[in-house]
Amino acid sequence: MSHPLDDGLPLGGPPHAASAWTELEDHAKSELPHLRDLFADDPSRDIRMGFECADLWIDLSHQNLTDETMGFLVDLATQRQVVGTLQKTLIGDTVNSTEGRPAVHGAMRSPRAVVQGLAEVETGRATFDRMAALASEIRDGEARGATGRTVDAVVHLGIGGSHLGPALAVDALRHLTHPRVEVRFSSGIDPDDLNEALAGLDPETTLVVACSKSFTTLETLAALDGAMTWLSNGIGEAAIDHVIGVTAAPERARSLGLPEEQILEVPLGVGGRFSLGSAVGFSVMVAIGPEAFHEVLEGMHVIDVLSAAEPPEENAAVLLALVDVWNRCFLERGSLAIVPYAHRLRLLPTHVQQVSMESLGKGVCQNSDDPETATGPVVWGAPGTDAQHAFFQLLHQGTDVVPVDLIAVARSLTDDDRSVHGQDLLVANLIAQADALAFGRTPDEVRTEGVPEDLVAHQTFPGNRPSTTILMPELSPSTLGQLIALYENRTIGMAALLGLNPFDQWGVELGKELATRIGDGLTNRDGAQDPSATELLRRYRSLREG
Ligand code: F6P
Repeated sequence: MSHPLDDGLPLGGPPHAASAWTELEDHAKSELPHLRDLFADDPSRDIRMGFECADLWIDLSHQNLTDETMGFLVDLATQRQVVGTLQKTLIGDTVNSTEGRPAVHGAMRSPRAVVQGLAEVETGRATFDRMAALASEIRDGEARGATGRTVDAVVHLGIGGSHLGPALAVDALRHLTHPRVEVRFSSGIDPDDLNEALAGLDPETTLVVACSKSFTTLETLAALDGAMTWLSNGIGEAAIDHVIGVTAAPERARSLGLPEEQILEVPLGVGGRFSLGSAVGFSVMVAIGPEAFHEVLEGMHVIDVLSAAEPPEENAAVLLALVDVWNRCFLERGSLAIVPYAHRLRLLPTHVQQVSMESLGKGVCQNSDDPETATGPVVWGAPGTDAQHAFFQLLHQGTDVVPVDLIAVARSLTDDDRSVHGQDLLVANLIAQADALAFGRTPDEVRTEGVPEDLVAHQTFPGNRPSTTILMPELSPSTLGQLIALYENRTIGMAALLGLNPFDQWGVELGKELATRIGDGLTNRDGAQDPSATELLRRYRSLREG
């Protein structure tokens, strides 16, 4: 496996080979000023540390860094050629070193003029046309089921990257979904999940989209099995006519009886967690229409181009990646909380969780060396202000310092007084939380409130806790695409800084293998039994059999 070199330093290797890394290590040992002081000394800090990125505005001023920190971080990005890696990713170079292939999610959502000559991308793009034709047929009420009735529901089966992105997009853009066509999602192996998704629907008017890049995923194939039974009960042998396969393994879909015209191909080079802008987004296209779907892709592409072109000091994705590395590797902060102050972005944290943790949850560099630093943070989150009433106690006064992404949308869907007021309250809460985290409340300030001395410590807020604010003008197909692509490029940027391959996920395989073996053992008593779970299996069996 060959790795690009920079002045003889392996880019796919541990980051501390870069001189800026050592400077950052020394810098991190120095006591950085408290955010209170940083703002007191520089009231225009939020202007200087705010960055426009297409329609988004990113405010890094509430992060624990000075101009000097930023200088070292930008040097690191230069030495690790992060922008170069984002460029190579966009133009379809072989950046996925352990699987020996390009990562073409960016190429897929690029206009033809930008990226050419990648056969699988051409196939992927041709699929967009087929998707649009079918999606329009369904939306226009021209799609007929096997019994001749009009299709009015789509049930999307898929898990991980074959679920999280599409579910987020349909939920976030619900205001654009077609009034007559219902799009539902089912991801889990738990029968309740599928039953809920099928509840109240009619097999005669329902299409099932089986979405799996590998078409080997246990959960999705089991759900497809369940859905086929449900369809067969309603329309008999024609059940297969109501199934669309979305996959990078068309041969497997064919082997399950799906005819060519009911298979939408995903390029192998599109990673699951980066796959919204491919046939994996078919159900999204049905829900919001081909035009809006392409606006999502255009929004994503704008960010891809900025990330692959702007110098580090002006490159929002790279700056966010640098701040992640600063927090994770130098300030030893183990997690990152994602808190969107928008109901329609409530599925964003789980999507970013997969993008980030499946890309950066690695203990080995591309060149197989030990990275000798912490890598991917634990990503978690929930929508604001709900989160304030759940885990913000820990964010403010806990012993762990948790960097937080706060995401705001300026314009709500409706502009009546109640909505505008609601929006103002949402954003006021976001700003209040960013300030409370940053500036805290000192013991003396608590005392001036007349708080009894024995409660002062309990009501003191250390502050100096970091947050990044991302402001969106509105939640539209384009801005949603921009936000998702910003997290993707940020993640790829962090991987480049740490010498990791963000495009593989070998770590998910062992659990799958064991699950198959234990599953066989459960259904077939003579099969291999798991010695470490003998008692659990015995109790499970006895409880199951009642
Ligand atoms: O197990 C993890 C994973 O492979 C993810 O990377 C992927 O998004 C998900 O499972 C679903 O995989 P598939 O699309 O092949 O069904």
